[in-house]
Amino acid sequence: MGTEFPFEIKDVEPEQTKKLLEYFKGEFNGFVQVGPKKYFFPQKYRQEAANIYNMPVRPSDVFVTSYPRSGTTWTQELVWMVANDLDYEKSNAIPLTERYPFLEFSICVHPMNKEKFIEENSHSEEKLKTLEFVCQPGTEQLANTPSPRFIKSHMPLSLLPPTLLDTAKMIYVARDPRDVAVSFYHLNRLMRTQGYNGDFKTYWDFFVKDLHHWTPFFEHLKEAWEKRDHPNMLFLFYEELSKDLKASVHRVTKFFGKEFSDEEIERLCDHLSIDNFKNNKSVNYDVMKELGIQLTGEQSFIRKGKAGGWRDYFDEEMTQQAEQWIADNLRDTDLRFPHLDL
Ligand code: A3P
Repeated sequence: MGTEFPFEIKDVEPEQTKKLLEYFKGEFNGFVQVGPKKYFFPQKYRQEAANIYNMPVRPSDVFVTSYPRSGTTWTQELVWMVANDLDYEKSNAIPLTERYPFLEFSICVHPMNKEKFIEENSHSEEKLKTLEFVCQPGTEQLANTPSPRFIKSHMPLSLLPPTLLDTAKMIYVARDPRDVAVSFYHLNRLMRTQGYNGDFKTYWDFFVKDLHHWTPFFEHLKEAWEKRDHPNMLFLFYEELSKDLKASVHRVTKFFGKEFSDEEIERLCDHLSIDNFKNNKSVNYDVMKELGIQLTGEQSFIRKGKAGGWRDYFDEEMTQQAEQWIADNLRDTDLRFPHLDL
């Protein structure tokens, strides 16, 4: 793999690291900030940065990318179904995690956690094999994946191969950052790779200060938004899927040059509805629970699936701060979240 990487990777300063490590018990060493935009990752990103940046892209590749908790899984299944001519049988038989290697998940699995997971799963050869697959760097998994490859990533465009958009297809999905933060907060508590132990207010503070995985949020979105008219880019919003799923399905089918009957589209929308999704073993990331990477309990990877739920988590002060933060970040762009008064 290539070794060139054009950005500087700096350690987050010690005081800040100390505070972060008190709240994020899934990380042990610390964090880095990358390039002029200071994209934030666990230390392990250093090992993967150049491999990801230089990974060979194939013309038949399909990337589904986003800031986490923006409706990635929903979009992945929608895209996969359309690109695979509505193959329900295969979709049900093969979990989404296998259909879509997660490019950079390995950077979230600290070696000490991996040791722990191996020990806990040592009674089952099969689980150990799955664990190895899930924790293997995505670039290695993908080198052995036959075409067409479907790839999940939360990397911003600037940290992905520079030739990507001129070579392969990308579907990017964006969501109101307040709903994103609430949703990611819950996941950060559930995933032992993150091990977040604080309250939402503290979490939100890290998020808006760009001290959280894959932030800065708005830079991430803007990089993709700037490319929204590229013929290989389809830019979607969670709020649009939520309000009119059929319209978004039509956009995806057009993007892939496919045509389906009204009945087929109806059936697909039903398949993608939150209630069916929650009960769909193939998409609900149960593998993370089975391996003990995700805590078991009432909460799960697919959660409420609503737009606007953030209101239950924000007090008056946070609401105003969020509005200001969003307005400040939207000032120099024509990016607007649909169906929101912002
Ligand atoms: P909530 O936690 O707000 O419910 P990602 O896949 O990027 O991690 O995004 C997860 C978010 O998308 C979660 O949001 C999840 O519930 C929601 N989601 C997943 N599948 C959905 C569906 N079929 N319909 C609506 N929302 C869905």
